[in-house]
Amino acid sequence: MPSHVKAYRAAILHSLADPAEVGIEQSYQYFADGVLVVDNGRIVEVGPADELLPRLKGVEVSEYRDALITPGFIDTHIHYPQTGMIASYGEQLLDWLNTYTFPTEQQFADKAHAADVAGIFLKELLRNGTTTALVFGSVHKQSVDAFFEAAEKLDLRMIAGKVLMDRNAPDYLTDTPESGYADSKELIERWHGKGRLHYAVTPRFAPTSTPEQLTLAGQLFAEYPDLYMHTHLSENRAEIEWVKALFPERKGYLDVYDHHGLIGPRAVFAHGVHLCDDECQRLAETGSAIAFCPTSNLFLGSGLFDLEKLERHGVRVGLGTDVGAGTSFSQLQSLNEAYKVMQLQGKKLDPFKSLYLATLGGARALYLDHQIGNFATGKDADFVVLDYHATPLIAYRMQQAKSLTEKLFALTILGDDRVVKETFAAGRSVHRRN
Ligand code: GUN
Ligand code: ZN
Repeated sequence: MPSHVKAYRAAILHSLADPAEVGIEQSYQYFADGVLVVDNGRIVEVGPADELLPRLKGVEVSEYRDALITPGFIDTHIHYPQTGMIASYGEQLLDWLNTYTFPTEQQFADKAHAADVAGIFLKELLRNGTTTALVFGSVHKQSVDAFFEAAEKLDLRMIAGKVLMDRNAPDYLTDTPESGYADSKELIERWHGKGRLHYAVTPRFAPTSTPEQLTLAGQLFAEYPDLYMHTHLSENRAEIEWVKALFPERKGYLDVYDHHGLIGPRAVFAHGVHLCDDECQRLAETGSAIAFCPTSNLFLGSGLFDLEKLERHGVRVGLGTDVGAGTSFSQLQSLNEAYKVMQLQGKKLDPFKSLYLATLGGARALYLDHQIGNFATGKDADFVVLDYHATPLIAYRMQQAKSLTEKLFALTILGDDRVVKETFAAGRSVHRRN
């Protein structure tokens, strides 16, 4: 074996498919004593230690006790400029935007401030085991330069874009259809496809863009291969009424985006809490995705996400934190709240479905499942080491657990950043817990 090959030994678990499609048992692969082999930033193979180790003579093997290796988590919706305003009190969406969000995002006109926050934000993602995220910048193009510069240094697979908004926001935070288009294009030319970085055309949401801006955003989305489109959809009842008043000629909220070409593969809509069947159908048939953001939906009082309805229609669904409306960077905590959202509707969320949502399901929602999401040979070596003994309570709970299912479920309910012992991106350690 060449000397740059590395191996990691622990319990290993990864998703193979959506449990909704293949059943729970066929949806994952688990090795109680497994080895993950990595070379040149990619997965070489995964399997049982007793089979692989004899073939790995001379290879450096890192061993972790009482630990579980899983693929890195994927966050399909988050706002990096909102890092400093997480946990802001008392408002639902529209007042929350005016009271907290817009003044906070104003500060990102300053590139040095943007660079500081981008560093804090990425560190926090990695502390929580998230290795890929679809990220809102602010309206300022320098906010996105700052973000991509920081992500490039760490060789992370990240997707981001400059916010487009040309109305219904303070003057200090608006662009114009033309400047928004030109600035986005400049950023695409500079960053899209550079290393592991991807660009997302990012209209904030329908109420803050004129039809002229949405038209140009749709044009841009069609202009470059593999570009993303990232926005919000049907999050809050008052927001939905506002969209109806602003776009009376459209059939509904989704139709505003659809009419402007802002739909299709790699179009990712955050929330979708209040969608009708026709809208779910349209999302499914166009290959668009929804980001389910449970901590945010609860925190802003937006409503209970109907995962089963979206699944019935065949919509791609990923998991998002939506920080700063979301209350944690941890996808384990997102899964904790997702479980409760389901319980409140008399439904269940199986722990293997949770694993899928946080990893391979997110990769599928982002059309990145050929590169990330599980440990198939050739994929990016983005993975996390989770510590079964992270806290006294977690260690004690794990001692009682009789099955992998029970352990995994307890990890998703009790776990957070404390559980993440080490995070690897492209085969390099990018976070190690003290
Ligand atoms: N809708 C429009 N902008 C935002 C935002 O920043 N956060 C959330 N949660 N919803 C939005
Ligand atoms: Zn959001």
